Amino acid sequence: MGNRIVVVGTQWGDEGKGKITDYLAQQADVVVRSQGGNNAGHTIIFGGKKFALHLIPSGIFNPHIQNIMANGMVIEPIALFKEFEMIHEAGIIDYQLAISDRAHVIMPYHLDIDVLEENLKGSLAVGTTKKGIGPAYTDKSMRIGIRIGDLLDPEQFKERLTISLRFANLKLQSYGAKTYDFEDLYDTYLEYGKKLAKWVTDTSVLLEKVVFQNKKMLFEGAQGVMLCIDHGTYPYVTSSSPSAASVPLYAGVSPQAITDVVGVTKAYVTRVGSGVFPTEFEDDCSKGIRQRGKEYGTTTGRPRRIGWLDMVVLRHAKRVSGLTSLSVMLLDVLSGVSELKICTGYLLDSKQIDYIPANYNDFAKIQPVYVTLPGWTEDITKCTTFDELPIQAKQYLRAIEEYSGIPIGIFSVGPDRLQTIALKQYFDYK
Ligand code: GDP
Ligand code: IMO
Ligand code: MG
Repeated sequence: MGNRIVVVGTQWGDEGKGKITDYLAQQADVVVRSQGGNNAGHTIIFGGKKFALHLIPSGIFNPHIQNIMANGMVIEPIALFKEFEMIHEAGIIDYQLAISDRAHVIMPYHLDIDVLEENLKGSLAVGTTKKGIGPAYTDKSMRIGIRIGDLLDPEQFKERLTISLRFANLKLQSYGAKTYDFEDLYDTYLEYGKKLAKWVTDTSVLLEKVVFQNKKMLFEGAQGVMLCIDHGTYPYVTSSSPSAASVPLYAGVSPQAITDVVGVTKAYVTRVGSGVFPTEFEDDCSKGIRQRGKEYGTTTGRPRRIGWLDMVVLRHAKRVSGLTSLSVMLLDVLSGVSELKICTGYLLDSKQIDYIPANYNDFAKIQPVYVTLPGWTEDITKCTTFDELPIQAKQYLRAIEEYSGIPIGIFSVGPDRLQTIALKQYFDYK
C-alpha cells in the first residue's frame, strides 16, 4: 500500500464513498475532492452525529487534515456557505481547507437552465439533481465559465460574467424564462469572493509539495464510474468523469502520484435518476433492502432503485479505474434475504458478453446471467471481524472477490464509522 489512495465509486454513486473517506481519513494528512459539485451527497456518521456533505471533503472532521477542493470541481457558493453553517452548528470550527482558484462557479442561471433543459428533453430527461452541474461544465467546455479565482478580481470578474451571462440570458429568453441582471449578480458574487478569499489558492502547487513530502493522501471520489461522461451509461450520466483516471487531471497531480485505488461497492446496487439498470428488481425483497438500507438520495431525497450486485459493472470499473482493492458496503442490509443473486455476465441477443455495450439500445436489451448464493438471517451489525460473520456472508464476500478479481480490503456492516472492518493496512507506516 502506498500513501496516495483514490476512493472511487464503482456503480451509479452512493456506494458509501463518504463513509470510507472519513474512516481512512483518521490516518491521513490530506483529503481532496477533485470533481463534481453538490450533486454529490456523502453521509458520515460518528459519535452519534450524522452529516451529509455535498461539497466539503469528508476529512473536515479531523482538525489535522488539509482538505482540498480541487480544480475539477464545480462549486455553488450558496450551497457551500450552507454547508459551512451546518458544520459550524455541529461544533466543527477547527479545520483546514483550500479551494482551487481554477474550480468553476455554479451560477444561479445554471440551476434554471438545468431544470429547463431537463424539461425540454421530456421522456429522455437524465433525471439530474437539478443543481446546475451540467450547465456549469458546459460553460467550462465552451470557455465561457467563471472560475473561483475570477470572483477575487473585480475587473476579471466583470469580463467573465459579461460573456457568461450573455449566453445564459439568450438561452433563458429562448426558453421564455426569467433573465438575470448583471449588476445584481456582480455585486453579490464579488461579496461571495471576498468571503471565500482566505481559502482560495493554486491547489495543484499545494499538492505538489504534499506529494513531495510523502504525506498520506486520500482523493475522495464523487458519483461512480457508471455515471462517467466517458465510460458510463451515456447519456444517463453526469457531466464530468468520476473515474480514478480523472483524478490527476482534476486535481492537478501527476498520474504517477496515485499509488492505490479503492473501489467502493455496495453489497447490491442502487441507482437514482433515469437510465437502464440491468439487475434492477422491484418486489418485497427490494422494498426491504430500500427500507433497511435507507435508500433515499442524500441530495434529492428520491427513492433509490435497487438491483443485484453486477460483476460486469464491477469489472468495468476495475478496467477504467484500475481498482487495487474493494470496500464492500451495506453488507448488513442483506441480512434476511434468503437467496442472493450475483450477476456474473450479460446476454445480448442470446450471446454472452462481458462488457458494457456503448450502444444504449443494446444495453437496454441486456439479460443478466445470475448465480444464486444462500443468504443469512443473523444481524451482523455488531461483527468486528471477518471470522464473526455467518458462513453465508463469508461465502458472499469470497464470491465477490472471485468474480471481480479484486481483493476486498474493507467491508462495512452499518453506517457508523465504527461499523467498518479493515482486512488490511492502508498507507505505509515506516
Ligand atoms: P456516497 O455518496 O458514496 O458517499 O454514499 P451516500 O452517503 O450517498 O449513501 C450511502 C448510504 O449508506 C448512507 O446513507 C450511509 O449512511 C449508508 N451506509 C454506508 N455504509 C453502510 C453500511 O455498511 N450499512 C448501512 N446500513 N448503511 C451504510
Ligand atoms: P455521490 O457522490 C448518485 C446522478 C443523478 C443523475 C445523473 C446526472 O453522492 O455518489 P447531475 O445532477 O450530475 O447532472 O445528474 O447523475 N448523480 C448521482 N447519483 N450519487 C451521486 O453522487 C450523483 N451525482 C449525480 O441522479 O442520474
Ligand atoms: Mg451520495
